[in-house]
Amino acid sequence: MNQDRENFGSNIAAIMALAGSAIGLGNLWRFPYMVGQYGGAAFIILYILSSLFLALPIFLAESIIGRSTGSGTFGALEKLAPGRRLKWAGLVTVISPLIILSYYSVVGGWSVEYLGYSIVKGFGLDISGLFGQFISLPVMPLACHTVFLGLTALVVLAGVKSGIERFNKFSMPVLLVLIVIIALYSISLPGASGGIEYLLKPDFSKFTGDAVAGAMGQSFFSLSLGVGTVLTYSSYMRKKDNILITGLGTAGFDLMFALIAGLAIMPAVFAAGIQPDEGPGLIFQTLPYIFAKMGVESLVISRIISILFFLTIVIAALTSSISMFEVGVAFLTEEKKMSRSGSVLVILAGTWILGALCSLSFGPLSDVKIFGSTIFGLCDKLTSNYLMTFGGLLFVIVVGWIMGRDKVRDEFTNHGTLKANERIFNLIHFFIKFVAPVVILLIFLTNF
Ligand code: TRP
Repeated sequence: MNQDRENFGSNIAAIMALAGSAIGLGNLWRFPYMVGQYGGAAFIILYILSSLFLALPIFLAESIIGRSTGSGTFGALEKLAPGRRLKWAGLVTVISPLIILSYYSVVGGWSVEYLGYSIVKGFGLDISGLFGQFISLPVMPLACHTVFLGLTALVVLAGVKSGIERFNKFSMPVLLVLIVIIALYSISLPGASGGIEYLLKPDFSKFTGDAVAGAMGQSFFSLSLGVGTVLTYSSYMRKKDNILITGLGTAGFDLMFALIAGLAIMPAVFAAGIQPDEGPGLIFQTLPYIFAKMGVESLVISRIISILFFLTIVIAALTSSISMFEVGVAFLTEEKKMSRSGSVLVILAGTWILGALCSLSFGPLSDVKIFGSTIFGLCDKLTSNYLMTFGGLLFVIVVGWIMGRDKVRDEFTNHGTLKANERIFNLIHFFIKFVAPVVILLIFLTNF
């Protein structure tokens, strides 16, 4: 094994980095909306079950591959299944996070712009066309994409310990404090109770097949599974750390943040008398409008809350994009023997260009359609519907069917020294080997 490979300094550091990858736009713009749509507390229970029985086994599979090989995703598959068979599959798991990074960075750029806007100007009530206008401009969104991707690259350039570990250890507590402050304020608004009810009141009539599929898809996406980020970060875990604790800690942190994000957003939405939305519309249209409405009461509070909110989004998105960037860098440094700085430059150039095309596909390139989607839409669809599920399937099959049970057990239990892990190993292995592949295959097929 590579002797001078860096490691995370502690188990907590590994959890913070993995939680940094997991906590992102999915928690802020999708989870709160899904909860309301699919029956409040009823959906939350479904989500917890799907995190435990579907997402956690896949997460553990990635972790086991990463730490046992001490390699990034391509090298790890080479080591576990030598020969040519899985080479192309390994390459897919290097490329798919970089595609996500390209369009994620465009959205990260929008958040940077909105943070700037909150600081410099603040939102007025006449903002209905603002978002559409802004994203279709050629230059400003590109500039913001460049800033966002540049910041990502700087952290990765500084290395695993002094870059990634340090940034996440600092950011995760900050994020938690920020979102709690916003939630407390949001709950205190008159009329907030409608939002709390929307999130928490169980409605079992919405307990449908769609809700189950939604919970599974969201838990998969939210833990950043299937694209080798969990694998790569786990390869930096120390041998004495506990893979199960890391998985549970990450999933717990991610769920807690999603719930608090719901309490930060929905009460404010209801207090303003607006219908909840999901996706970009929620963050970049609904919320600025709410901030503007708050401004009628108090300009200072409105400015402070909107700054804190967009700061939260920028940081949450950065910690996710860093993890995707590192997958590419691990590949180039380990497999192509490039220096870290050279690798960062190559990944930066590649993702900047693809991201720029994604960005321009809202404006000058909006007529360019591939399979009926814009460039941005295509990158999103390709990764969310196919590549992520493909990766997830690949990882559970490798651990369940190729690696060999004893090797998996050794890694999961730290060679039998972790007694609690030993006790649940059979159960976990069963889920990785049989349940996860079948469920992922079903998700994959329904996406077609
Ligand atoms: N989990 C991230 C979020 O909630 C999004 C995401 C999906 C992701 N797949 C990823 C982040 C892979 C990093 C790597 O926003």
